[in-house]
Amino acid sequence: MKYPKNKEHFKELVIFAKKIIKICEDAGIPTIVYGSFAHFYYTKNKGINVNDIDIMIPEHKKNFPKVVRALKKNKIKYYYSPRWETLIIKKGDLKVEVDSVGKGYKTMKESTLFKSNHAKINFYGLQIRLLKLIQIEEMYGRALIESDKTKLNVIYKVDLLEKFLSRKLKGDFVVDVVKSKDLNRRDKKALEELRVKEFGEKNRKDFKKDYEPNTLWVMVKKKGRIVSFGGIRPIKVKYKSKTYNIGGVCSTISSVKKKGYGKLMVNAMVNQSKKMDKTIIGFTGKTKFFAKCGWGTKKDLIRRFVWVKKNGEKVYDNDGDGIYYEGKDKLISKVLKGKSMVEIPVEFW
Ligand SMILES: CC(C)(COP(=O)(O)OP(=O)(O)OC[C@H]1O[C@@H](n2cnc3c(N)ncnc32)[C@H](O)[C@@H]1OP(=O)(O)O)[C@@H](O)C(=O)NCCC(=O)NCCS
Repeated sequence: MKYPKNKEHFKELVIFAKKIIKICEDAGIPTIVYGSFAHFYYTKNKGINVNDIDIMIPEHKKNFPKVVRALKKNKIKYYYSPRWETLIIKKGDLKVEVDSVGKGYKTMKESTLFKSNHAKINFYGLQIRLLKLIQIEEMYGRALIESDKTKLNVIYKVDLLEKFLSRKLKGDFVVDVVKSKDLNRRDKKALEELRVKEFGEKNRKDFKKDYEPNTLWVMVKKKGRIVSFGGIRPIKVKYKSKTYNIGGVCSTISSVKKKGYGKLMVNAMVNQSKKMDKTIIGFTGKTKFFAKCGWGTKKDLIRRFVWVKKNGEKVYDNDGDGIYYEGKDKLISKVLKGKSMVEIPVEFW
């Protein structure tokens, strides 16, 4: 039997995880183990800790409630977050996480993943399904761009896996974040064309002239091609006589839709918000999409904003929900608590 570095904790964890896996399988829900245990299993790296066990299940909308019922029946405590598509089961410091599969993976399509496209192993006495190495590689490649790069855990695991494979991970995806003023000709043209394709020729913008030079363009590229992008404009707003530097979220577009690329893009925007320590906010009708990505939303929030032109003229807009990721300034919370208007110095973005 091979064990990771934290052998004693791990032995307890295995007993607990086996119990949870059995509960799921007995309820008719197939499970696949992935995460740090899979990493340990393939690399046989005894230097790493396996602190918890991660499990995937298919058809999460249907199956999470089933898992919940089975856990209740077995009197096991859990925390379920439909928004993050995760269910966490804890017993003391032992933790098992049950997750959905997620979209947009090449090697992990739900239709085949649980039927045949997995490894089968003996997990300390229990036959289980395990993610394949190539699938783990794809997940890490994705996690690297999805999570804040300062999340050392991902970097560390990727580093270990790369050492084991003696090569760089194969990653199809890259996130580029470039200021308007620094856009190269190719990206500028591609962004302009994709925008026209989505919003029509009469809404064409020149990405160097029509946005502030420091507007950030977050671009998700798949094999070099932009599949999703969005802008964060540097905007100063005034609320109750105080000025706030915020990011105005604009032009969020996926050229290929419903493949999870938009989610990658807005997650990358959240990373930028954290990095800049700024609240970011946009107005849209695509509220559900942003809510699914974990952003705050508020119906008709645009009505609390007024564009005050240089000559003092005030312009209002009625059409748009607020979608936001709040920074330390807590601007949105303050606005939602109060009644005053937020003054913006530019047209609604
Ligand atoms: C809105 C937009 C950027 C979403 O991008 P996308 O790449 O298709 O979205 P994703 O595939 O990452 O979707 C992530 C989640 O949001 C959901 N979602 C996506 N678009 C949605 C919509 N219009 N309504 C409800 N849910 C939506 C997806 O089903 C997915 O849910 P899941 O995680 O439960 O499966 C894209 O539809 C688009 O380009 N729209 C046109 C431009 C636009 O209107 N932009 C917004 C205002 S500027």
